[in-house]
Amino acid sequence: MDRLIEAALAARENAHAPFSNFRVGAAVEDANGRVFTGCNVENATYGLTLCAERVAIFKAISEGARKFVRVAVVADTDSPTPPCGACRQILWEFCGDVELVLTNLHGQTETVRLGELFPRPFDASFL
Ligand code: THU
Repeated sequence: MDRLIEAALAARENAHAPFSNFRVGAAVEDANGRVFTGCNVENATYGLTLCAERVAIFKAISEGARKFVRVAVVADTDSPTPPCGACRQILWEFCGDVELVLTNLHGQTETVRLGELFPRPFDASFL
């Protein structure tokens, strides 16, 4: 199995999702082949919940990684789950038009570019 998907699957095991019971794992790979993982971390206020994708990318940034080549997301859904709108914005900021590998627990995998899911983004080029 693709090691990035494997990493996302393992991270999903750590999901803190007592409110939705929807467990998500993510993994980002940087240009040096380093892999950073994340799971969703929910909060009793709901609104402070962090998605797996943002946890993974923030961990990577805080560890000094800057150039990213792939992002994998794993959830237990019929068809592979795409990142939410907030995560698309954050991923665009740090990864640009990166390759996204979306997978479910049945091994169905879909590969898309972030730009396909997030056309006409607002970013630093407007500032
Ligand atoms: N969630 C993610 O972690 N990533 C996604 O791509 C979609 C949603 C989380 C947030 C929340 O903890 C739960 O899934 C239900 O929305």
